[in-house]
Amino acid sequence: MFKINDNYLKLPGSYLFSTIAKKVAAYTEANPDAKIIRLGIGDVTQPIAPAIIEKLHGAVDEMGHAETFHGYAPDLGYAFLRDTIAKNDYQDRGCDISSDEIFVSDGAKCDCSNIQEIFSLDNKIAVCDPVYPVYVDSNVMAGRAGDYDAATERFTNVIYMPCTTENNFTPELPKETPDLIYLCFPNNPTGAMVSKAELQKWVDYANKVGAIILYDAAYEAYISEKDIPHSIYECEGARTCAIEMRSFSKNAGFTGMRLGFTVIPKDIKSGDVTLHSLWARRHGTKYNGAPYIIQRAGEAVYSPEGKAQLKEQVAYYMKNAKVIYDGLKGAGYTVSGGVNAPYIWLKTPGNMTSWEFFDHLLADANVVGTPGSGFGPSGEGYFRLTAFGTYENTVEAVERIQKTVNCVRNTNKTEFLRNFYKHDEKIILYR
Ligand code: MLT
Repeated sequence: MFKINDNYLKLPGSYLFSTIAKKVAAYTEANPDAKIIRLGIGDVTQPIAPAIIEKLHGAVDEMGHAETFHGYAPDLGYAFLRDTIAKNDYQDRGCDISSDEIFVSDGAKCDCSNIQEIFSLDNKIAVCDPVYPVYVDSNVMAGRAGDYDAATERFTNVIYMPCTTENNFTPELPKETPDLIYLCFPNNPTGAMVSKAELQKWVDYANKVGAIILYDAAYEAYISEKDIPHSIYECEGARTCAIEMRSFSKNAGFTGMRLGFTVIPKDIKSGDVTLHSLWARRHGTKYNGAPYIIQRAGEAVYSPEGKAQLKEQVAYYMKNAKVIYDGLKGAGYTVSGGVNAPYIWLKTPGNMTSWEFFDHLLADANVVGTPGSGFGPSGEGYFRLTAFGTYENTVEAVERIQKTVNCVRNTNKTEFLRNFYKHDEKIILYR
C-alpha cells in the first residue's frame, strides 16, 4: 500500500498566493462589476522589451530550420548565456565568478525551493520573519522543519530571525547556530536592503560557523542607492559560503517566460565534495534545461539595447513605488521599502490584522494586496503592495486607499470592523 509524504500535511493552509487568488475569485463572483486592481502577487504588467522580442523572433525562426534547430539544451545552460551572465552580472562588478559556476534554470522560485535537496535533512535552517514562503515550505515538504506550532505560528525546527521596525527589517545574527541561512536582498516582502558592510558580517559569520548562505537576489535590478551590494560575491569570503539565486522575472519581465540562474562557486566544499558537483548532478538528473529560445531572449537582456530598455522598465515600476510610498505616507500610513525594491511594506491602520485589512481593501477599495502575516508571524499587522501594476492602476489604487483611510483612522478597531462587516456581509461569507 502506498504511503504519502506526510510532511505535506504539516503545511498550514495553501500557498499564500493561491489563498489570495481564491479569495479574490470569490469576491469577484459575488461582485461581478467590481473593478479590481491587483497589487498583490509581484507579477509584472509591462510588455517584453523590443530588443528581447526581436531576439525571440530570430530564435523561433532558427527552430524552423534543420541547420539551426536546437533540441535538448545543455543541462547547465548554453555557454552563450552563462558567459554573458558571468561577465555582466559578476566580472564587470569585480566579482570572481566564472561561467561554469552558473547554472541556468527556469526561474529562481524553483531553484530556491530545490536547492535544499543537496543538504542533509539534519541541517537546521534560519529564515527572516517575515519571509518569502517558498524557503520554509520547501523545507517542510522535505521534512527538515519540524512540526507546525499553531500557537506561535512557527515550525519547531526552524530558526526565525524577526525583521521588525526596531531593526529596520534587517535580521540580526541568530543566537542559535544554523547550518543554512536564507537571505533575500532587496527583500521580499519588506523591501528592506542591507549595506555591503552589513552583508559582509553575514559572510564572515557563515564562514566562521560553517554555514551556507542561500542568497536570493531576484530583485537586484531595483537597487537605486549607492554602497549597496548587487551580489553577495562583492563580499570577501563569499566564495566559500554563499550560493546566489537570480531571476529574469522582475528585471526583464520574464514571469511568463521562465528564466533564472543559480551561482555555486567551486570553493564551497564539505570535505572533498563540492556543492557545485551535487547541484550539477541534480540538474542533470532532474532537469532538461531552459528552452533555447528563452535562453536567447535572456542573452538579449544584456545587449546595449536590452539594457537601455530594461533600465526604463525598471524606472517605470519604481515610479509606481514612489506613487504608493508617497501617497500612503501622505495619507498617514507608516510605510517602508520602495526605494531599492519594488515592494512597499505598510503598517495596517487602526491595529487591524493583516487579513482584516486585506478584506477591507478588497471590499472598500477593490484593491488587492498581500497580508504581511502570510509571510510569517512578525508580518502580522503589516501589508505588502507591489509596484508591478500599470502606472494608471497604481495611481487609482492609491487614490482609493487614501479615501478609505479616514474611516479607519477615526474609529477604533472593534467599532470599525462592526460597521464594516455590517456594511458588507459578503466579506464574511468567504472568510
Ligand atoms: C511575490 O509576489 O512574492 C513573488 O512574485 C512571488 C514569486 O516571485 O514567486
